Amino acid sequence: MKLIIVILGILKLVDLSTAQSDVVGKITIGFQGWFAARGDGSPIDAYWHWSRDWGQPPSLTNHALESYPDMREYTEYFATDFPPLGNGQPARIFSSFNNQTLDVQFRWMREHDIDTVALQRFNPFGGEGPTRDAMAEKVKVFSELHGRKFYIMYDVSDWLAVEEQIKEDWTQKMSQYISSPAYAMQNGMPVVCIWGFGFNDGQRPFTPEQALNVINWFKDQNLYVIGGVPTHWRNENEDSRPGFMEVYTSFHMISPWMVGRITNLPDVDHYYENVQTPDHDLLRTLGIDYQPCVIPGNNTARHRQHGDFMWRQFYNMKRIGVEGIYISMWDEYNEANQIAKTAEDDSQIPVGSPFLPLDEDGVRCTSDYYLRLTQDGGRMLKNEAPLTEVRPTIPWPESYNTK
Ligand SMILES: *[C@@H]1O[C@H](CO)[C@@H](O)[C@H](O)[C@H]1NC(C)=O
Ligand SMILES: *[C@@H]1O[C@H](CO)[C@@H](O)[C@H](O)[C@H]1NC(C)=O
Repeated sequence: MKLIIVILGILKLVDLSTAQSDVVGKITIGFQGWFAARGDGSPIDAYWHWSRDWGQPPSLTNHALESYPDMREYTEYFATDFPPLGNGQPARIFSSFNNQTLDVQFRWMREHDIDTVALQRFNPFGGEGPTRDAMAEKVKVFSELHGRKFYIMYDVSDWLAVEEQIKEDWTQKMSQYISSPAYAMQNGMPVVCIWGFGFNDGQRPFTPEQALNVINWFKDQNLYVIGGVPTHWRNENEDSRPGFMEVYTSFHMISPWMVGRITNLPDVDHYYENVQTPDHDLLRTLGIDYQPCVIPGNNTARHRQHGDFMWRQFYNMKRIGVEGIYISMWDEYNEANQIAKTAEDDSQIPVGSPFLPLDEDGVRCTSDYYLRLTQDGGRMLKNEAPLTEVRPTIPWPESYNTK
């Protein structure tokens, strides 16, 4: 009898160790994929997220950006009404809907060991729905092509009918994707994330009962459910509504929001000591995985300190022993919080625009610098590199001078 129990125990260990793990021990990025342009073939056919008035190309007086992409690798692009770049070339934009764009961006992910893509899915029942549906299909195709994993990350902001509609959306549209070999799996279950329950603001006015109804429904579909939760979920104060502890602890994994919470190195360490360490301690006792956010910092607000701000977060999260890391975000050029390739210097941004390039603090950084930082942070997370307090990533390696 004892022998059988031991054998069963060993089999269980083997089973767990060989089970696919696409979020635990992995680097996941938040992917918006929400930039469109007129004529790009997207259903929305507008300058979605580039301009404030989507009908017009972005310009100095009509844009929705806080940071400007490095456009050099896009061979298919769209014209803008911005002045030319500092180097005299036309200021262009990409469309997330375009296959060449996706091929470039998913190649960047592959080259920098980014494991998993969390595709943001806001309320798909309005006018944006068809474009979001098409993006889900494209993310599947390019994840498969470049050997990345992906999962659907619902954002319930301003989605008042979410309780019924999210189930309908999953059943009728998104659940088909779990049959893709690229769909992220954890503990033998396909992964889904729901971001936004419990936030103490008008955009997410949901009750704990509504949240639990949705979460339990997804768990009943045999999914591994991640919760994108308020920073102060554990104390149920500040950005968290009271009365949500049962909601928070019903998730398989918790990913508390960090954008806007930290702006400098003392902040980073303050959150490490007073928020993230006790968060992880509690979650460990509850058997819930922890996927904290790591953010590059708002470039336009000069938070990045040429990478020291982001590295300190990687270092702290590895010291805590977190289960996984969520980078927020991949392509958030609208909030200057993107890691995807970004203008290096004034020669690559429109003349007279308010955007700051990566060299804003006087240190020259290659446009892929935050991808390389993420790669190095990932190596430390995965024990492929030692725990290192001093940032190992070089902003401008010698080898880039010949590129
Ligand atoms: C983009 O790629 C998808 C998937 O491979 C394909 O079905 C579609 O035809 C391509 N679109 C264009 C415009 O080439
Ligand atoms: C980023 O910084 C700029 C400049 O300080 C500020 O205007 C903007 O609101 C910040 N973005 C976010 C999302 O906080």
